[in-house]
Amino acid sequence: MPDSDHKGLGYITETLASPVTSAEAALRPLSFGDFTGQPKTIERLQVMVGAAKRRGDPLNHILLSGPPGLGKTTLSFILGHEMGRNVRVTSGPVVEKAGDLAGLLTSLEEGDLLFIDEIHRIPKTVEEYLYSAMEDFRLDIMIDQGPNARSVRLTIPRFTLIGATTRAGLLTAPLRSRFTLQTRLEYYDIPTLMGIVIRSCGLLGVAIDEGGAREIAARSRGTPRIANNLINFCRDYAQERGNGKITKKLASAALELLEIDAAGLDEMDKRVLRVIAENYHGGPVGLGTIAVAVGEETETLEEVHEPFLIQEGYLQRTPQGRALTPKGYHAVGLKSATQDRLL
Ligand SMILES: Nc1ncnc2c1ncn2[C@@H]1O[C@H](COP(=O)(O)OP(=O)(O)OP(=O)(O)O)[C@@H](O)[C@H]1O
Ligand SMILES: [Mg+2]
Repeated sequence: MPDSDHKGLGYITETLASPVTSAEAALRPLSFGDFTGQPKTIERLQVMVGAAKRRGDPLNHILLSGPPGLGKTTLSFILGHEMGRNVRVTSGPVVEKAGDLAGLLTSLEEGDLLFIDEIHRIPKTVEEYLYSAMEDFRLDIMIDQGPNARSVRLTIPRFTLIGATTRAGLLTAPLRSRFTLQTRLEYYDIPTLMGIVIRSCGLLGVAIDEGGAREIAARSRGTPRIANNLINFCRDYAQERGNGKITKKLASAALELLEIDAAGLDEMDKRVLRVIAENYHGGPVGLGTIAVAVGEETETLEEVHEPFLIQEGYLQRTPQGRALTPKGYHAVGLKSATQDRLL
């Protein structure tokens, strides 16, 4: 079958979850030295890369998890760069059949990295083939059907699987256990994000002062991708409404226009908090119910909004569902029932 007919063989860069823009690619750090933040993950990766290179072995399989926009794809390219190897990119749902996986794996060279984004969405039937590929670098593929059915063993080059997922919890235990390293990316703190903002502005040739960088960093929900997007908007705003430089005042006005508040909460975050407060007396209420009430997919709430709201203490996860904290009430300009009682 020619490659072009076969969508599993297309090395689709950045599918589904993360449509990549060339602007995003331009801002992507290329080496460990260029990458700021995530000190634990970086040290773990540096140890593995250093050891693999010293022994002349391929890198062991690595699972990167964490909310969108924190640097999973970026790190996989950095790993390729640091190892001096090619990185092939695909995505869980694209690898539909065992044959797709076989096509991908047999086209790799020894030591190459295969990056599977959204690996939790790989079909179960394909996942089982991945086990022997990861462990023994072989694939036993069934060909033909009925009495002619037979299994063919394919030996594949020793490769490194880099899996990325926003939902590590959805990975099956057998798959998860085949990754030597499972590491989770965390939201970035404000000083680290300021560094990323200043670096991005430098690359884009945008003038920014420290106050401007702090303002953008504080409103980026701990996420470099959001910081980069806000920089782009602030740059436009500075050009159209200012003198081209991003200052604290200018960034603040630009981000008000986007309805991103001082804590970085966006419209959907606030809608979630407001619905729980106003319609469900602060909760607990199930995520599915919230999703319907705010008109968003449950998955998106769970992957994108909830982790940040919980980490920052606006929301609590209880066995009965999600509940607002006093900080959550405060964020949407309301008082909690318990506060009322205390007053
Ligand atoms: N530590 C960092 N330093 C500088 N820039 C970063 C860092 N981490 C991420 N970025 C920037 O953020 C953007 C998004 O990162 P990336 O695409 O790697 O996120 P992701 O975790 O793969 O997200 P998704 O789950 O949506 O695929 C990149 O273009 C990169 O420029
Ligand atoms: Mg990605």
